[in-house]
Amino acid sequence: MPKVFLVGAGPGDPELLTLKAVRILQAADAVVYDKLISPEILKHIPEGALKYYAGKSKSQHLMKQEEINDLLVDLAKNSGLKTIVRLKGGDPFIFGRGGEEIEALAKNNIQFEIIPGITAASACGAMLGLPLTHRDFVSGVHFFTGHGCKDIEPGVDWEILASEDKTLVIYMGLTNLKIIVERLVEHGMPPEMPAVIIEKGSMPDQRHAYAKLSELPELLERQKFESPALVIIGKVVGFAESLNHKHHK
Ligand SMILES: C[S@@+](CC[C@H](N)C(=O)[O-])C[C@H]1O[C@@H](n2cnc3c(N)ncnc32)[C@H](O)[C@@H]1O
Repeated sequence: MPKVFLVGAGPGDPELLTLKAVRILQAADAVVYDKLISPEILKHIPEGALKYYAGKSKSQHLMKQEEINDLLVDLAKNSGLKTIVRLKGGDPFIFGRGGEEIEALAKNNIQFEIIPGITAASACGAMLGLPLTHRDFVSGVHFFTGHGCKDIEPGVDWEILASEDKTLVIYMGLTNLKIIVERLVEHGMPPEMPAVIIEKGSMPDQRHAYAKLSELPELLERQKFESPALVIIGKVVGFAESLNHKHHK
């Protein structure tokens, strides 16, 4: 029986791949992979395997999501291949459309398995010595995408996101950062809440900078951060900053 594996490739550093991900990649007959996957990770794919580049950068959607779904279904049903890998950045189920892909597979009675990956939030926190939760400061963490925040989003509960009691991690937050900051402040988050932008977390050219919440748009403008980048806001950011990384790599 053919099987489709949704494999998390982690945040970029090839050593942050799981052993299981490596094993499945080495056994792959076909791999459909995204833009942010490093060449060192792709080296685990056997030479004879079919490779499909799905693109998926913000400005350059090489393949539409429906096309990717159709390709996975077609490979599983019609190619005669057994091990089909859908290799995705970070974790397949965190802002990765993994849910849409398994829906298409399930509808077509195709077996699938998910291999989790290290999501950008975990990796970026680790790289900065920044615990996303810390019982002295917060009771939890919100993962949020800033992708659709061009205006007041009816579906977004800003009051909950603006809670001082939770760390807020924003994926795809750069384009709409100004409006996100405005909404958070309007809904009660203190403008001086500590925040950080991390670009290319865990990659060799990673960079980051701290700012107060209200200063984030200006920081973005000045330092010209680009995708992939994460914005982390909350008391734990102040904690990490205060440690000053003396004991962190
Ligand atoms: C489509 S989402 C995919 C997230 C992925 N599934 C995960 O679990 O990390 C892409 C966004 O994740 C964030 N991201 C992914 N890798 C990153 C990295 N190495 N450093 C910082 N942010 C990253 C960025 O916000 C980027 O725009």
